[in-house]
Amino acid sequence: MTVVVLLGAPGAGKGTQAVLLAEQLDIPHVATGDLFRAAVRDGSPIGLEARRFMERGQLVPDDITIRMLLDRLNRPDAVGGAILDGFPRNRAQAEALDAALADDGARVDLAVDVEVPKEELIRRMSGRWVCVESGHVYNESTNPPQIAGRCDIDGSELVQREDDRADTIRARLDLQLASLQDVIDHYARTGVLRRVDGLQAIDAVAADVLRVVRTATPPAGG
Ligand code: AP5
Ligand code: MG
Repeated sequence: MTVVVLLGAPGAGKGTQAVLLAEQLDIPHVATGDLFRAAVRDGSPIGLEARRFMERGQLVPDDITIRMLLDRLNRPDAVGGAILDGFPRNRAQAEALDAALADDGARVDLAVDVEVPKEELIRRMSGRWVCVESGHVYNESTNPPQIAGRCDIDGSELVQREDDRADTIRARLDLQLASLQDVIDHYARTGVLRRVDGLQAIDAVAADVLRVVRTATPPAGG
């Protein structure tokens, strides 16, 4: 089982990199933000609850988040591991993940922190467009779709995320960076933290992420 955690501030490029890495490692990309957005779209009880926090840029309470994430990891496609994007977001979530993995004789193999300065985060989130069908991510200046307003992968319409409004972007950065630092410190303590320069172009970041992953985790079957 290979468990890789992608860490980074809002807008750092976790989702962009997780998709590329999931293809390389052939394990699922599990993003709590995507799970919450799907729940909001479905109008499920988790979605109704989560939306109140997401629209204010706050973290959704741990009990809901941890249960949802562990349910997802228990699905059959994650038996070989997963790339976690957006989880854990604070120390309690990191410890809950460690405990759940330990029950299965597993652990977080690697935590990769994608480092990007704050001004660039704001620029990236302000220019982000995602597809309505599956949340595939684009950027109007750094990563545009081939046809304006359409997803390259599934052809669905591109929209802006509700939490990418200027005031919510600011709130997310103000409210979430301290607990991200706690998670970074947690993985530094357990010895699995690596950092990559997220300010590079998408391909260059992907190459660095793959390099640290290959160094830390044995290839499948090996
Ligand atoms: P979530 O969906 O996880 O949002 P986030 O952490 O704020 O991160 P983003 O998705 O905004 O950014 P990203 O790092 O994925 O960047 P992306 O690849 O899109 O969470 C949303 C909300 O859900 C939270 O605020 C919270 O309320 C709740 N939530 C989620 N998980 C939770 C948890 N565990 N606990 C509690 N609450 C939780 O890239 C950004 C943009 O930059 C894109 O336009 C992209 O095309 C572009 N880009 C990417 N890489 C590059 C590059 N190298 N160069 C130039 N442009 C780039
Ligand atoms: Mg994301």
